[in-house]
Amino acid sequence: MISKGVTIQEPKGKLGVLLVGLGAVSTTVIAGVEAVRRQLAKPIGSLTQMGTIRLGKRTEGRSPKIKDFVPLAELEDLVFGAWDIFEDNCYEAALHCGVIEKSLLEQLKPELEKIKPMPAVFDQHYVKRLHGTYIKKGENKRDLAEQLMADIQKFKTDNNCTRLVMVWCASTEIFMKSSPVHETIESFERGLETSDPDIAPSMIYAYAALKSGVAFANGAPNLTVDIPALMQLANEKGVAVCGKDFKTGQTMMKTILAPGLKSRMLGLSGWYSTNILGNRDGEVLDDPESFKTKEESKLSVLEYILQPEIHPDLYGDFSHLVRINYYPPRGDNKEGWDNIDIFGWLGYPMQIKINFLCRDSILAAPIVLDLAIFLDLAQRSGMKGIQEWLSFYFKSPMTAPQLYPEHDLFIQLMKLKNTLRHLKGEEMITHLGLEYYD
Ligand SMILES: NC(=O)c1ccc[n+]([C@@H]2O[C@H](COP(=O)([O-])OP(=O)(O)OC[C@H]3O[C@@H](n4cnc5c(N)ncnc54)[C@H](O)[C@@H]3O)[C@@H](O)[C@H]2O)c1
Repeated sequence: MISKGVTIQEPKGKLGVLLVGLGAVSTTVIAGVEAVRRQLAKPIGSLTQMGTIRLGKRTEGRSPKIKDFVPLAELEDLVFGAWDIFEDNCYEAALHCGVIEKSLLEQLKPELEKIKPMPAVFDQHYVKRLHGTYIKKGENKRDLAEQLMADIQKFKTDNNCTRLVMVWCASTEIFMKSSPVHETIESFERGLETSDPDIAPSMIYAYAALKSGVAFANGAPNLTVDIPALMQLANEKGVAVCGKDFKTGQTMMKTILAPGLKSRMLGLSGWYSTNILGNRDGEVLDDPESFKTKEESKLSVLEYILQPEIHPDLYGDFSHLVRINYYPPRGDNKEGWDNIDIFGWLGYPMQIKINFLCRDSILAAPIVLDLAIFLDLAQRSGMKGIQEWLSFYFKSPMTAPQLYPEHDLFIQLMKLKNTLRHLKGEEMITHLGLEYYD
């Protein structure tokens, strides 16, 4: 199948990347991009920087780098901005988070110090464990949204950007369900006026982004942009959105392993996941209300991948538990354990143990970079609303209301690459390959 291709505007000028939250993930992306620009390190883990894409038949030997195939913003053209509830600049915040070694941060200090956060829209009701000191004051939530829109405009002018994208890298908010105020843009705007408690700070940022024509990605499991009112706004404004919750660590491993077990028709009787984590994210998730948001996001993946309703004998009755324990000595270097009880031929039981000593922000940083760059591509290609082809990066991918999310990492990657082929009018790759044997 070959599409005609799509007109893609060239990525001329600077791309502003606005990060909500200047914590472990954000500072690791910003410092990392600076280190790569200076050739002090390589952008490992980033598909936009290192990934390739096969084109045409296997006999053609065409596998360019993705960045040479589609017109993407160059690292040199990225300018970062951020909001946070603390006033520390990017250098101070990165030092505090302790992800990147001090010796590397020292080399990047002059650039990092220049990135000073803008005061945040924050309310402790939504993130119980944090006490913000650097926050905007406003008459109501509409006033706060307007202040964010003014920040966005000012950042764009001051930095001479031609385009902007926004990525939520701030703390996980309490668990919320969609309510009547989220139904339409009219009810949402009335809710801003009356400061409705069902409008969380993350929704105010998303609203400000969409109103300003800025594409939005949600890296946390909060509801945020995943409500009908904001989807309506994204479609009306022609803006691209994606979410939720960066797929790193244990969930990434789950979406690699579970499709493998299922493809061999091996059964599952239980999957127990636990981890210890000592960064601020871990502290926030120690609060049961924020943990609930995360737990929902982490639990959903196995159900969708294994499809128990289609395979009741294999997956009709498995236990799935996820625990996160805040354990300060580990900092950002999380340790995860998985115990997987599976069964095979004639029902004989087997076990798999995974002990993943990972680094949360090191896994998340290339995801943020890719999302910023791909969202900009989507925007320049006239794609609006939910960008399901970016599900590859998320634990709880957003989809059209009638669809279930696709969690299998390999199907997600195929979808991502076929979307790029579609944009450029290249043949889709189905892996059928009968023609090689004609
Ligand atoms: N690192 C990962 O592997 C990973 C994976 C999936 C999701 N996430 C999510 O990404 C987010 C960031 O993770 P992190 O490790 O950088 O956490 P972090 O705690 O180091 O950073 C979050 C920052 O957001 C700030 N913040 C909180 N509320 C804010 C608001 N309303 N406006 C502006 N700033 C605000 C905090 O002060 C903090 O500096 C978290 O929600 C986390 O759950 C991270």
